[in-house]
Amino acid sequence: MTFSQEWDTRFKENNNISIWPWSDLVSFVMRYARPSGPQFRVLELGCGAGANIPFFLSMGAQYYGIEGSPTIIKRLREKFPSIQDRLIAGDFTSSIPFQGDFDLVVDRSAVTHNPTAGIKKCLEVVHKILKDDGKYIGIDWFSTLHSDYKEGKEAEDGFTRTSYQAGQFANVGRVHFSDRSHLEELLEKFSILILEHKTVKREIPDNGIFAAWNFVTKK
Ligand SMILES: C[S@@+](CC[C@H](N)C(=O)[O-])C[C@H]1O[C@@H](n2cnc3c(N)ncnc32)[C@H](O)[C@@H]1O
Repeated sequence: MTFSQEWDTRFKENNNISIWPWSDLVSFVMRYARPSGPQFRVLELGCGAGANIPFFLSMGAQYYGIEGSPTIIKRLREKFPSIQDRLIAGDFTSSIPFQGDFDLVVDRSAVTHNPTAGIKKCLEVVHKILKDDGKYIGIDWFSTLHSDYKEGKEAEDGFTRTSYQAGQFANVGRVHFSDRSHLEELLEKFSILILEHKTVKREIPDNGIFAAWNFVTKK
């Protein structure tokens, strides 16, 4: 179990409440794994405040979400009563409480908040619960080119940092950064169909480089 409890505190204090679908997630799903109708089953790992839920419901997909924060899951069940039984509080590095045969598993910046061992364990289960031709899409997995990779403190392994006091990773516990070969090792059970490396340098105010991976994989 490698869920960082700091997330529950963030949500209790009404921080990190993102409610609009993330544009990269929408475009990757529409381009590479467009839901085909009511039989299409999608699981989101670490759904947070549910930013991506309305998008999948509008596509008519059967949506399931697992999220480590009981506080935010309680709020999501009230907000989306029609799918309340499919929104579960749990640590996806420990177990995934849904039976298999998903067409799609998605994760925007959630698995990348765990150390290498937890990520490996989670990906093994994801591989098992996907249909034979199912896809796993990862959006915003932080890259070692991100300027914050040099900040914080080393956690369980050389790719995982923690204890950020400032910036986008302040008070969220663990943050995992990947380079290409580490990512390929983590995803070795999957076929990588698309791999994009996104780097953004904000000039004003200068806050360094945001760098992250987006990928589409197939079982
Ligand atoms: C950066 S937020 C992203 C939330 C959402 N995916 C989005 O795009 O708005 C990361 C989320 O992953 C969840 N998370 C991180 N590690 C987890 C774990 N091991 N098990 C369950 N949830 C986890 C956190 O609680 C948090 O809600």
